[in-house]
Amino acid sequence: MKPLIQYHSVILLAFAVCLWLVVSGPGSASKPTAAPPAVDPGVVATLETLLRSPRADVRASALAWISRDNRAQSPEFVPQIFAALKDSNSDVRDKALSNMGWILDRYRGTANGAAALGAIQGALEQTKDRAAQLVALDLIGGTGQGGVYVDAGGSQANPYLISDPIIRRMLITQLASPDSSLRPQILRLVKGSSNLQAAPGMVNAVAPALHDDDLSVRDDAIHLLVQMYGAGPPGSSVQCKPLLETALRSTDPNVRLQASRALGVPVPPAPPQPRLASLTGEKVSLANVPFDFNYFTAFVQPLFDKKYGGEACVDCHTPESSNPGKFRILAPGPSGRYTLEQSRINFVSVLSVIDRKDPMESKLLLMPLNPTTREGTIRGLHHDGGVFWQNQYDPDFEIVADWLKDAKLEDPPSKQLDFAYFRGYVEKIFSTPGPDGFACINCHFSHAILHLESPETAQGKFSIEEVINNYQSALRVVDESAPSNSYIVRKPTSPREGVPGGLSHAGGVRWPDKKQSWQYKALATWIGMRNLAPASPATAGPTHAEAQPSKE
Ligand code: HEC
Ligand code: HEC
Repeated sequence: MKPLIQYHSVILLAFAVCLWLVVSGPGSASKPTAAPPAVDPGVVATLETLLRSPRADVRASALAWISRDNRAQSPEFVPQIFAALKDSNSDVRDKALSNMGWILDRYRGTANGAAALGAIQGALEQTKDRAAQLVALDLIGGTGQGGVYVDAGGSQANPYLISDPIIRRMLITQLASPDSSLRPQILRLVKGSSNLQAAPGMVNAVAPALHDDDLSVRDDAIHLLVQMYGAGPPGSSVQCKPLLETALRSTDPNVRLQASRALGVPVPPAPPQPRLASLTGEKVSLANVPFDFNYFTAFVQPLFDKKYGGEACVDCHTPESSNPGKFRILAPGPSGRYTLEQSRINFVSVLSVIDRKDPMESKLLLMPLNPTTREGTIRGLHHDGGVFWQNQYDPDFEIVADWLKDAKLEDPPSKQLDFAYFRGYVEKIFSTPGPDGFACINCHFSHAILHLESPETAQGKFSIEEVINNYQSALRVVDESAPSNSYIVRKPTSPREGVPGGLSHAGGVRWPDKKQSWQYKALATWIGMRNLAPASPATAGPTHAEAQPSKE
């Protein structure tokens, strides 16, 4: 019985989407209109059925539709939408949330309006569900694009939500906080709204973003500050000036340049690089370290926490351990991730067991390696901690060796996704043939974006260079905030000739089971891991406070 219901829902959904395209035409929903147009009874009847579907993806699609199509925005859906805010499925909850815009707009001043406003404020205020925060920010922006709230009555320059005092306070707090991962979105909002720029405290909230770990956040922040200095609301110029003067001393050359241009003063020389203390007490300036930090955070550092037959380096080599020697590293926080601050400390700390003149002789490389191996030319050193890598062809040895041989990774820590999961579950997707006998690697070896390398051996074993190349390529086509929106899952589930406006894939549908395929599920899990990870408790000390280094 159950499959029959699901089958019906799918047919209905497909039918309904066609109907929607015919009735509303693509894009028409985003045009703001003075009064909501008459509700279309046919559409409403269809959506009623879909909203009752046992399948979460069907309910989510129906809710997304209602949020975009004002002919579907019937008052009778309002209680159901509010109920869906508490659905057990996060996608359903997020799609319900995206309906709060029109509900607020239509029922402003009533209980329903207040509840909608409360839902948006709540989504922004919590710290656990980043996807919901992004939906809330979309609503606040009120751009009318991509199915978000259109402030039909009000003027686009001054959407209602932006004037709400609670929301303004939230935006200011989040912008000022170094732990917030929403800075890029908030900076964009503020840039486009002179109303927000005039909010008390806003100028001072932009300033801390000049020190963000992410280069592009720093760039957005300095541009905003310069904009407010030159053409901001009354009074902001005076407020911005001292902040720009401070920015002249930034360690970021771009920030110094923009600030000096705005103030009309010569570009000041670079201030001395801050030095970091390693766990064994050496002071190290990051600028003098020849090895790549991004590669270290993505591939090398996770090895310290990896269990080899029950034991990990961090079991014996933290600052607290009593063992002799200079190898000291921090263990990750409870979520299993390292913060940016911890990563920097570990980065400078491992230098004490690296031989800078002859990196391949480094203790970091040789202590965990088997001293008596007959394979290859490199022998390990005796290590009381035991043997972790059997020979020089062990992939983990190769990772560290490549790093010491100057391997680099473009993607900063915030963009990196779990490498161990990629190796275990994602890599094999690329070499698994589809029904036509072709695998991703058969076509994608020549691509610039998703550039995939084929396994080294006939048995399908990827060398570590290949795995790392494929990992870097995959990062280019993922959307972490909306995993199912990532090209890496949308392309292989799209037909050769797409429906008008839809996505197509010249390689055709690669996984006949589409979203039910193991490939789709593995990729969605990998991309969504950061969103699913529990947020760090607000009460934790500074080491745990940014357990998800989401801002570089
Ligand atoms: C069970 C405990 C234990 C584990 C697990 C362990 N070690 Fe060790 N390690 C030691 C001890 C004890 C020493 C000091 C004695 C010696 O040099 O063998 C040491 C020494 C070292 C040294 C030399 C430090 C110096 O200044 O001479 C390095 C480098 C090192 N370990 C790396 C690692 C790495 C990398 C891992 C994980 C892959 C690891 N160890 C896992 C116990 C451990
Ligand atoms: C038969 C050849 C073929 C196969 C097999 C194939 N693709 Fe593609 N794919 C293409 C072509 C050609 C394009 C460029 C045109 C387009 O975007 O549709 C493309 C584009 C893409 C893109 C956009 C980025 C880029 O590099 O252009 C992604 C992502 C993608 N494919 C993912 C996959 C995945 C994942 C697989 C395996 C599950 C796969 N493809 C299998 C031919 C193929």
